[in-house]
Amino acid sequence: MTNATKVYLNGRLVPRAEACVPVMDRGFLFGDSVYEVIPVYGGRLFRLEHHLDRLDGSLGAIRMANPLSHEAWRAALLELVGQRPGEDQSVYLQVTRGAAEKRDHAIPDGVTPTVFAMATPLAPIDPAVAAEGIAAITLDDLRWQRCDIKATTLLANVLARQIAKERGALEAILIRDGLALEGAASNLFVFASGRLATPPKSPLLLPGITRDLVIELAQADHVQLSEADIPVSALATADEIWLTSSTREVMPVTRLDGKPVGAGRPGPVWRRMNELYQAYKARLRQQPDA
Ligand code: PDD
Repeated sequence: MTNATKVYLNGRLVPRAEACVPVMDRGFLFGDSVYEVIPVYGGRLFRLEHHLDRLDGSLGAIRMANPLSHEAWRAALLELVGQRPGEDQSVYLQVTRGAAEKRDHAIPDGVTPTVFAMATPLAPIDPAVAAEGIAAITLDDLRWQRCDIKATTLLANVLARQIAKERGALEAILIRDGLALEGAASNLFVFASGRLATPPKSPLLLPGITRDLVIELAQADHVQLSEADIPVSALATADEIWLTSSTREVMPVTRLDGKPVGAGRPGPVWRRMNELYQAYKARLRQQPDA
């Protein structure tokens, strides 16, 4: 993305270099804001309605109304991604509470939300991921108790990802009260004894859009699946561990805390899921224009 690339800000497309948000914006001062990340394949927005429903949920949880209707979001995002017709992209959108006269924790009346979105090129997944898998570590979950809200207040996630990076890993799996919940920016699946499991939705993890799709694809493929708690001890004995996110799809974890997961290579159940996932993306690309 260059500075000439236009971003969406409060109803208009403007060159990125000219897009400014006031310093009194509560997104800046308090992290009082929520966001979404939506991949775009061949110009088609991936599961847009699911993302907008989750946005409604995040906004409702922080006592905000969605400033745009779903139709208005669709139109704005299609215009944004239309700058690079047919290219794979990643849309980041953010809604903040807006700028108030003074800094006060309590929510002020009458502020106008700031609505921002940008689209960046989506790099293809590194072939090394399918060939070798990725390394992950486990870490204590230091986040708050409303991780189901897709809030931009992400310091604990930022630090977890940084510690992972410093230890030569791509992701941190977060552990709370003996349970493995999700990654710093991904959801968790474990395959063991012929069953796929993922932690149930709760306030302690983000209801991932990719997670829902992987569940749908697994069920349609007659995989035994349960939404059930995953004790941290189950990670050590798993045949396969996967981490899912919109931008990174389904990643096979082949090393955890420096030890091999299962056979230490991307497993057969992951390979099958990845085929189903790629087929889903291919169908999306073929869809007629919205
Ligand atoms: N993050 N859990 C957390 C904490 C996340 O931040 C994300 C995604 C996910 C996966 O959700 P989805 O399948 O809807 O992408 C789970 C995005 C990609 C981000 O913060 O950039």
